[in-house]
Amino acid sequence: MRILVLCHSFNSLTQRLFDALVADGHDLSVEFDIADSVTEEAVALFQPELLLAPFLKRAIPESVWSRLPCLVVHPGIVGDRGPSALDWAIQRGEAEWGVTVLQAEAEMDAGPVWASRVFPMRAAPKASLYRSEVTEAALAAVREAIARFDDWRAGRWQPQRPSSDDPAVRGTLQPLMRQADRAIDWARDDTATILARLRAADGFPGVADALFGQPCHLFDAHPAAFEPGTTPGDLIARRDGAVLRATRDGAVWIGHVKRPGGIKLPATVAFADQAAVLPERPAPLMRDAADWGELRYREEAGGAVGVLSFDFYNGAMATDPCRRLTDAIAFARARPTRVLVLEGGADFWSNGIHLGRIEAQQQAGGSAADESWANINAMDDVCLAILQLTDRLTVAAMRGNAGAGGCFLALAADHVWAREGVILNPHYKNMGNLYGSEYWTYLLPRRVGDAAARAIMAERLPLGAPRAAQTGLIDAAFGADRPSFEAEVLARAQALAAAPDYAERLSAKRARRAADEAAKPLSAYRDDELARMRRNFYGFDPSYHGARYHFVMKSPQSWTPRHLARHRDCVGASPAQR
Ligand code: COA
Repeated sequence: MRILVLCHSFNSLTQRLFDALVADGHDLSVEFDIADSVTEEAVALFQPELLLAPFLKRAIPESVWSRLPCLVVHPGIVGDRGPSALDWAIQRGEAEWGVTVLQAEAEMDAGPVWASRVFPMRAAPKASLYRSEVTEAALAAVREAIARFDDWRAGRWQPQRPSSDDPAVRGTLQPLMRQADRAIDWARDDTATILARLRAADGFPGVADALFGQPCHLFDAHPAAFEPGTTPGDLIARRDGAVLRATRDGAVWIGHVKRPGGIKLPATVAFADQAAVLPERPAPLMRDAADWGELRYREEAGGAVGVLSFDFYNGAMATDPCRRLTDAIAFARARPTRVLVLEGGADFWSNGIHLGRIEAQQQAGGSAADESWANINAMDDVCLAILQLTDRLTVAAMRGNAGAGGCFLALAADHVWAREGVILNPHYKNMGNLYGSEYWTYLLPRRVGDAAARAIMAERLPLGAPRAAQTGLIDAAFGADRPSFEAEVLARAQALAAAPDYAERLSAKRARRAADEAAKPLSAYRDDELARMRRNFYGFDPSYHGARYHFVMKSPQSWTPRHLARHRDCVGASPAQR
């Protein structure tokens, strides 16, 4: 089918649908929802059979939905309506939630239903549920809706309008959730209530509150044990950029905050002076899973398999966290394991250097170029530490999405496995024509060849894990959800560690690394890449700085990139010629 995707931005859900529907054989083009006239023009140019709207903040114009079937993905159960669907579901502690695909009409979210799915709720932030359960449910429901299209066109099937008399229809119209609905009363609310409120507001808009007597929005909360002798609301300690705050019956780590007019930053960075007086409570790498911290190391399979996780908020890896990760890899190296699994974060594997920290540096009167330079070097050191692990086999186990340098970080491992639903963006150009580093000029061609490497970089398209495995970018895609992926990663890693030919594999790895080093040393790849990056950071062309500013400040889109708006390439061609 010819499908026009209309979206506020090309976000993770939209990318997942785009990738899967292209893989299903559909002909897709994308237009951002900038103005009604732009949408009308896109429809006229592409002449789609269907318009799909996975992520919109405004209504589709009547001039479009009255002439063309327009299917909207709503992150709520059948009958649910309103802009804060997931927020209410999390805050109210719903045990089950869902996704509904409905046909656009004059009234928002009120059209007839083409398909729907439900899923059990998980105690997780809204953005995590959105990127995982909502995305999987949306894809299943969209595929079902598309499968019904021919029957609908032939008049053999009609979408049903949910009836409030139907006891199966639990959803209702819910208002926009306001900060008053989200407010935390530290003296009265228990940890579970506080966590539900913070999770319902993560990653946007956060909960309006205060730290150190200063107003700010709170994000990125994790439960912690009760701290005897504290009063609810007290700030107790700091760790990994977060501050520990007492509740009535426990405590919570608050990882990120946004001060008025500021950028979302680690709490101890946004309140650097105030947080400096809090005692540092370091997290040992090998510790109980319930004790929050960004880095964690554990051993499995009787000590044969080491597993290192690095759960950085939003997958963004700033200079200091990169250095801590390099140290953690050195720690893992000192352990007598045969296989090291690098499992990134639960929601993101990695999204490369931390653009928010870099932008904050600039806005505080510092140098974005210097911070970018420090960050990319620290990121390269992480890649190098992985590449130099020649005394054991390494696995990158991608539980969540990865973008830009974060993708290439994974390719530094010997084996790259990803959960089936993971979306990869193995390219840098979208960030103001950034050249990129992370040894990509070594890692990408050795996996896919020079021509495919050039195409991947130039096309700038998201790649779902199954397609990435087909192209050889990664080795395998498996696991319908995170628990099944993690279980299979462990089984495969254990099998690698116990393989009868383990020693041969290891010596083949060493031989290949030595041969590659002789052909061109890693330091030469790095120098060449960094010479180009230096120009991006310090040169005359400010594209990277502009793109980073707009990305971090979430500036509204003013046009759809041409590599997505394919209909703008074929002006003048008939549908049959495209
Ligand atoms: N630095 C800082 N923040 C980042 C980040 C980065 N490298 N990558 C993602 N984020 C943040 C976003 O700002 C957003 O923040 P929010 O919590 O305030 O909403 C959050 O992570 C999720 O990102 P979003 O863009 O909404 O996720 P997505 O899944 O829809 O898109 C990407 C994923 C990877 C395509 C997109 O995040 C991206 O382009 N990131 C930048 C990658 C990059 O250029 N890195 C630098 C070069 S190595």
